[in-house]
Amino acid sequence: MCGIIGAISNANIVPILLEGLSRLEYRGYDSAGLVVANHGLQRVRTTGRVAELSNLVATQKTQGFTGIAHTRWATHGKPSEHNAHPHFSGKETKIAVVHNGIIENHEAIRTKLQQHGFHFSSETDTEVIAHLIAFNLKQTTDLFKAVCLSLTELQGAYAIAVIEEENPERIIAARKGAPLLLGLGKEGHYVASDASALLQVTRDIIYLEEGDVAELNRHSYKIVNCLHHQFGEPVQRIVHESHLTNEAIGLGTYTHYMQKEIFEQPGAVANTLEMVLNAESISPNIFGSKAEKIFSATNNILIIACGTSYHAGLVARYWMETIAGLPCSVEIASEYRYRDAIAVPGTLVIGISQSGETADTLAALNYAKEVGHQYSLAICNVPESALIRQADLRFLTRAGPEIGVASTKAFTTQLASLLLLTVTLAKMRKKLTINDEKQMIAALRHLPIALQHALQVEPQVKDWAKRFAEKNHALFLGRGAHYPIAMEGALKLKEISYIHAEAYAAGELKHGPLALVDNDMPVVAIAPNDQLLGKLKSNLQEVHARGGRLYVFADADANIESSEHLYIIRLAEHTGILSPILHTIPLQLLAYHVALERGTDVDKPRNLAKAVTVE
Ligand code: F6R
Repeated sequence: MCGIIGAISNANIVPILLEGLSRLEYRGYDSAGLVVANHGLQRVRTTGRVAELSNLVATQKTQGFTGIAHTRWATHGKPSEHNAHPHFSGKETKIAVVHNGIIENHEAIRTKLQQHGFHFSSETDTEVIAHLIAFNLKQTTDLFKAVCLSLTELQGAYAIAVIEEENPERIIAARKGAPLLLGLGKEGHYVASDASALLQVTRDIIYLEEGDVAELNRHSYKIVNCLHHQFGEPVQRIVHESHLTNEAIGLGTYTHYMQKEIFEQPGAVANTLEMVLNAESISPNIFGSKAEKIFSATNNILIIACGTSYHAGLVARYWMETIAGLPCSVEIASEYRYRDAIAVPGTLVIGISQSGETADTLAALNYAKEVGHQYSLAICNVPESALIRQADLRFLTRAGPEIGVASTKAFTTQLASLLLLTVTLAKMRKKLTINDEKQMIAALRHLPIALQHALQVEPQVKDWAKRFAEKNHALFLGRGAHYPIAMEGALKLKEISYIHAEAYAAGELKHGPLALVDNDMPVVAIAPNDQLLGKLKSNLQEVHARGGRLYVFADADANIESSEHLYIIRLAEHTGILSPILHTIPLQLLAYHVALERGTDVDKPRNLAKAVTVE
């Protein structure tokens, strides 16, 4: 959460900061601000979005060669101009700081600094960093050393960029527990929360590691690592070439990123499965060189994730048990990390995360290691993320950048990866014959086309969306592996349309939620043609008999007919094991079109942000 960018260049860097911020806005949009060095530090802040900041900057004709900027997701202190970054410290000579993360001991440091006469003008934890650096600057007289010294006092997570009025020829940047990278350009040097912000100026990227502190000058840079030493040792970091394309991060012909990402799913899944689509059999090596050894020792699965990624894990549990014969538990990361969890020998711990930076998921994986779990696997969409670096084995979902805050293509690519993993484990455990494996590969090969077909229900879903737009509540029902898909459908609807939506395993309805059903309550049901269809139909009857309005997404061949107050949209085909992946599509489309009808901000829903890097 929060996006930061800094630039030092031969040319005016304000347009670079603004373009970078607009790329980072998905990380938070409660306020935006920038500061440039130009005869002192010139700061512009707004509680509006980056577009509003651009207008202010244009009016004030702000420009300079060194600057830092920020787009905020509020944690400490409400969204307001005085809480917006950059934060200042110092009277005669100022320093400015932008920060992504949370400083856990900010209160103690604040008290200490107040005793030393520092005055605070915001409620943020970030202002503590600014004053602490200013305090240490008095003793060290060098900004780089003052930053290193200050970091030894900070507990929590941070990615920061700092500039100084006195010496505007440099930016100091540091990271611990939040992503930060450097960009090396022809005209200057840059720092940002992610590579998409810097694509405008360079593809040469250095991913900072935990404890790295960097000094950027116009034509040079240095990096030290302060994780164990106060002033650190100089370190060399590899320069990577970013392969991001403008097409991948732009809207193209679409109106919203969520819409683009929904329609990108056939391609995203095809990319994710590329290495098996032309293969005759699946090799465990696609999960890493140690996979064969680790999978041979695996007799239990523990999946840890948050939100949509957690829902992917819940679907995988059905697959792991049915196809691979493996016991599988699925945990919400923020709960697991504080439980007295017991390690079962032979467990493979799987962390699922689109961003690979979700604080709870990272902490829960660390905790799993602490309690004695030996092996971990990351399923993630960001190759350079902390999660990928932390795990023993890894599988990259190749969905491309997901910018809409509501996760869509990340989810279906996670499901495709988890199915691939299940088949791999099943094969190693001799639960599949060669013929079974071939059939599974054929099913996976068919998945991108099947997704394309599923997207064709959009016009019918649009019709339904008009009716949903007037509602305040909705229930979602599913059974078996489609119950987590119902949960995902409810999450999508609530997060972007703000309609209160709850999902239930359909068999649970009569144990309480049926009391909510009346003629004003839309009930969405997922009705695949599987062995539970008969049971589900009975559950739907229970709703129908009480005047509920049923909206059923059924497989093409599901024996279920429309009637008064029972509406059906049929998917183009019935795809057996792939069914949960395909049934996700109409639910995403429903949420999207209901949000359009209600006029909400589809890509940037209120109070949310992508990449939840705080606890
Ligand atoms: C919902 C959504 C969130 C994320 C959750 C975990 O649409 O996007 O629920 O799934 O914050 O994020 P990752 O997958 O990045 O760990």
